[in-house]
Amino acid sequence: MKKQVKILALESSCDETAAAVIIGNGEELTISSNIISSQVATHAQYGGVVPEVAARMHVESVLPVVMASLAEAKVKPEELDAVAVTGGPGLVTSLLIGVETAKSLSFAWNKPLIKVNHIEGHIYSSLANLPMEKVNEIFPALAVVVSGGHTELLLMKNHGQYKFIGGTRDDAIGEAFDKVAKMLNLGYPGGPAVSKEAAKVDPNNLKYKLKLPRPMLDSDNLEMSFSGIKTSVLYTVQKEQKLQGENLDNRYIEEMCYEFQEAATDVVAFKTLTALKQNKVKSILLGGGVAANHHLRAKLQLVADQSKVQLYLPEMKYSGDNAVMIGLAAYFHYLNKDFCPIKNFRPDPNWELV
Ligand code: KG4
Ligand code: ZN
Repeated sequence: MKKQVKILALESSCDETAAAVIIGNGEELTISSNIISSQVATHAQYGGVVPEVAARMHVESVLPVVMASLAEAKVKPEELDAVAVTGGPGLVTSLLIGVETAKSLSFAWNKPLIKVNHIEGHIYSSLANLPMEKVNEIFPALAVVVSGGHTELLLMKNHGQYKFIGGTRDDAIGEAFDKVAKMLNLGYPGGPAVSKEAAKVDPNNLKYKLKLPRPMLDSDNLEMSFSGIKTSVLYTVQKEQKLQGENLDNRYIEEMCYEFQEAATDVVAFKTLTALKQNKVKSILLGGGVAANHHLRAKLQLVADQSKVQLYLPEMKYSGDNAVMIGLAAYFHYLNKDFCPIKNFRPDPNWELV
């Protein structure tokens, strides 16, 4: 049997404190534990993530989360081959907790440290549970990143080799979902709330027949824009409020959510199709919180089928922030002996993958 590589991974870039143990043996990557302590309920009271509160909660939960992930995996610290952690991008006060904890554990246990870019983690989330034989066949790949802070198309020649080919010129798609939810008083986090309202709509029986723009679809470039769609929601809603009053009819809110979701996911699907026409790839890797959106998943499946490429979607439990994805990406850094010295390693809140 080939040597097993056991990695403890930590993630704390925003409002989830997460730890996971990943075991690779050259043939498969096994997810031995996946622990997430979510702060969503706390931040929901404020309508968004409060960095100071997030940092304090990370401090309280990071060690219990690490201990739980080792216990669930039945792995002792001395059996580990490396400790991995998200080094950015994200909220610096949140990142610091994961990074300083990982540095301390790496020092105390004398294990190499691996720093992983959060966006790279999201890209690898779609490869969880895929046999290594299949992983080796995915390249060249098109990574489609759709999160709260990023919307990007990246070409991947191989592990760790990224080329930026397009992305949003303004808001990230998840950010637009969150802002639309706020406008419609649907609370935080906005993405799941908007898609829940949209799911109540029968597209064959629309009362309001709302139409939002799909910006930049008439060009061959791979730039996207979501702020225009969001602003159009704002103006349309304000106009409707003049007719209906402040409290809009539920049906109007549901149909607005439906149309917004359609418009935003149309943009990503269309630009993915354009990217596939311009670049020969074998697969699409979808990652980021918005990868949980069923409409986006279905549209990208159509695009993939039409282009005859394989689409890899993250399981729902790995689409939001988690440490499994950090461990998966870290495994390939481990194979390349891409370790990070403890000294001078600081989180980078604006770390660009490319
Ligand atoms: O990747 P993620 O958990 O955090 C970042 O790295 O940004 O992404 C969070 C984003 C939020 O904007 C959230 O509203 C969005 O993902 N999201 C969704 C859905 N679930 C989460 N957006 C649309 N539909 C969903 N079902
Ligand atoms: Zn994320």
